[in-house]
Parts: sequence; C-alpha cells; structure tokens
Amino acid sequence: MQNLRFPRLPLWKVMTDSQGRKISYIRISLTDRCNLRCRYCMGEEGIKNLRHSDILTYEEILRMTEIFRTLGVEKFRFTGGEPFVRKGVMDFFEQLDFPFHITTNLTAPFLDIGRINKLKIASINVSCDSLEPEKYRFITRGGRLETFLENFRKLRIKNKKLNVVLVKNFNDDEVLDFIKFAAESDADVRFIEKMDFLNDNLDFAPLRPLEKNLIETGIIEAESFNEPGGAARYHKMNNSDKRVGFISSMTEPFCDRCGKIRIKANGDVKLCLFDENSFNISNVLKNGANNEILDFIYGIIQKKGKFPDVRRGMEPIAQMGG
Ligand code: 5AD
Ligand code: SF4
Repeated sequence: MQNLRFPRLPLWKVMTDSQGRKISYIRISLTDRCNLRCRYCMGEEGIKNLRHSDILTYEEILRMTEIFRTLGVEKFRFTGGEPFVRKGVMDFFEQLDFPFHITTNLTAPFLDIGRINKLKIASINVSCDSLEPEKYRFITRGGRLETFLENFRKLRIKNKKLNVVLVKNFNDDEVLDFIKFAAESDADVRFIEKMDFLNDNLDFAPLRPLEKNLIETGIIEAESFNEPGGAARYHKMNNSDKRVGFISSMTEPFCDRCGKIRIKANGDVKLCLFDENSFNISNVLKNGANNEILDFIYGIIQKKGKFPDVRRGMEPIAQMGG
C-alpha cells in the first residue's frame, strides 16, 4: 500500500482516543444474517437484513484492514450475525495474510471444517449456551446441539474459546459441565452476563458470586488476570492449563479499558456498543484516497466517549456480532 501519509499526528498517536485508550482491536461484522435466532440476540423473525448492495465488499474490507494495520492495529475479529453464512467468506478468509480472529456459532450449513482448519486463525470464539440438546434448541430457537458438537470436535485450531451467555435459572446449573467440557476439548471457557437488548424475558446471572464460589471450591485458581484491552477476567483451571473467563458486562462495565471499535457490515463504525451514533466509512472507502481514509478514521476515533450515557443497546446486537 503506497502513499500513506499522516496529515496531523505521529503514527503512535493516531489510534489513541481522547481518553488515552489505544484502539488496538477492530471487530468487523461480515454480515447481519445468522442461521440461528438466539433469544437474547434477535427476535423470532430475525432482524431486518441489510441489502446486499449496502454491505461492504470483501475488497473494501481488505483495504480497510490494511489501513488499520498500517495504523498499528494488530487484532481483527470477524463476526456476524454468523460470519460463515456470508457467500464467499472462505475465499475471503483465505486471502488474509495475517493471523485473525473469528467469532462463530459453528453451525452454519455446509461448514467446511477441514478448510477452516487450514486458515491463519489466531483464535476462534465459539458460542454455545447449553450442553443439553433441548435447552440448546430453546435458546437458539431451533439449533441442533449435535451439529455444534460434531463441528467443534473436528476443529483443529489451537486457541479456542467457548462463549457461554449465562442466563439465570436456565443454564447457570451447567457451569461445571461447561468447565469440564472445555478442559476436555482443550478450550478456554468464558461466561458472559447477558445484556438486555430485547424484551427476551431472560435474566442475567451475576458472575462475581459464581467466580468466588469456583475459587472457594478449588475449581479455579484465586489469581486473576486480564487480557490487555479485553473484557474478561481469567483464572486458570486447577486441573488443567485451560482458563475460565468472566465477562461482567452488566455489573462491572469495562469501558475504561475498552480499546475496541466495531464496524458493521454496512460500514457503520460503532465506537461503543451502547452508543447510538455511528459513522459510515463506506463512502470514503469507495471513493477516498488513502490519506482521506486515515483522516476519517482519526476523526472518528477522537469521538469515542468516556462512558456511554445509557447502558442500553440502541439496536440489535446481531448487527454487531457481540
Ligand atoms: N448479551 C451478551 N452477549 C451477547 N452476545 C450476543 N448477544 C448478547 C447479549 N444480549 C454475544 C454472545 C455470542 C456472541 C456472538 O455475542 O457471546 O456468543
Ligand atoms: Fe446468531 Fe450469534 Fe446472534 Fe445467536 S448470538 S443469533 S448465533 S449472531
């Protein structure tokens, strides 16, 4: 990529927001479509899908990742909806020549796990909220646990994390099963407090008491550590080198160390999950020179606020991939 100029600032400053947080992590939603309908994520009828002509092309996404990489961003996560339901996504992933991250439910139709195993994946987060078929079917509105398990067993990616959205009186009795399953599958497991984006009649389960209990019962070590810029508190499991993570999105917002921005499939840049504003990058990506794109990115990053005013989602999380 040629002709990259920084009109105003030295490189290291460009990706630092007004609060001094370094933006080091970009989440890119490849599609808002999904083969599942998780109750905390979408309504039964799904969401109003973006039109194909409104979503960024793979070339535009590639160009965008190259520019962010020039700016020092090293971590890219591709999400959805469900990223593997977008047509041509495997060809796109095969073109990426840097290690990248994916979040997936691992149940998209025609998923080619052999081909996925060959990608340059730095880590993969897989969503699964119950290890009981009936409950899995309930929470995903029709998903098959067996499909998930079959695909998960075939996955040969080294760095795997199991994402479990914890719902009170629904799957909070499965915590130990999840930890055991993760250890046996050579994966970390992360429990997540369910956020309220919809009237889903599901209560989140607060994670601090659970974390305390797991330490006291000797399941996990007392010492905790955070991944830089990441949301989870991790503890090593006692009987394995795998980790258990806790993401207290409801009870302990982690805005002060959030170095993330999200880009929706239509090019809307969201500086915060709870921010109703977004800035669409697609026009400048289609028509702008590299330094115009840099200017645009610098300008919006400065708008990343300290904390959101309302901690309530303004639009379905499905369009932002969690
Ligand atoms: N609350 C918490 N996490 C959510 N996710 C989606 N919706 C919610 C919600 N309402 C996360 C889950 C899922 C990922 C794709 O997004 O972790 O695994
Ligand atoms: Fe699909 Fe993930 Fe939303 Fe479930 S949480 S409906 S798998 S995008």
